[in-house]
Amino acid sequence: MVLASGGGSNLQALIDACEHGQLRAQIAGVVSNNAEAFALQRARDHGIQTALVIPQHNEDRRAYDARLAEQVWSWRPDWVVLAGFMRILSTMFLARFSGQVINLHPALPGELPGTQAIQRAFNEFRQGKRSKTGVMVHFVSDEGVDNGRVIATEDVPIHITDTLESLEARIHDVEHRLFVESLNTLITATQKEPVT
Ligand code: GRF
Repeated sequence: MVLASGGGSNLQALIDACEHGQLRAQIAGVVSNNAEAFALQRARDHGIQTALVIPQHNEDRRAYDARLAEQVWSWRPDWVVLAGFMRILSTMFLARFSGQVINLHPALPGELPGTQAIQRAFNEFRQGKRSKTGVMVHFVSDEGVDNGRVIATEDVPIHITDTLESLEARIHDVEHRLFVESLNTLITATQKEPVT
């Protein structure tokens, strides 16, 4: 199953790969914390179940994550895949899905954790502080942001002719491919049934 908060281009890459037999999995459902997330529409368009778990006023993270965990557990997923899910998951949630939670981040390991990583990499390039950035897929095992055990990583060069938009496009292309490859490797290595 997939958790997504936004546009869901990475979710779309997973859906397409499943439909074309490039990813040996089925997406059991998609959950969002954001009613406006286009990711939900993408899922519906492909007949995938969706659920909205919206944070309530004054609800603490633990209470929210308990509700989220119930929804996720209702699908009994082998993998909990974060595709642009813009919340930090609590230890309680992660313990319940131990070893199953995978995240995608548009930066190299140990670099640029948190939001707007592409924008920050681009700014650093323009300040002469870096010549490349990258993408990583990693396990999420604690509340640290974008820093779990790395599953796969790929460098993405930044060119002098790049705009923020062209760099974003290059990074997203790498994300879409690396995400599918990484999940395939995991699924094959663990020999689980083809259910995400
Ligand atoms: C991606 O860049 C991903 O690495 C990050 O959030 C973004 C989600 O993009 N965690 P999309 O919603 O999949 O298009």
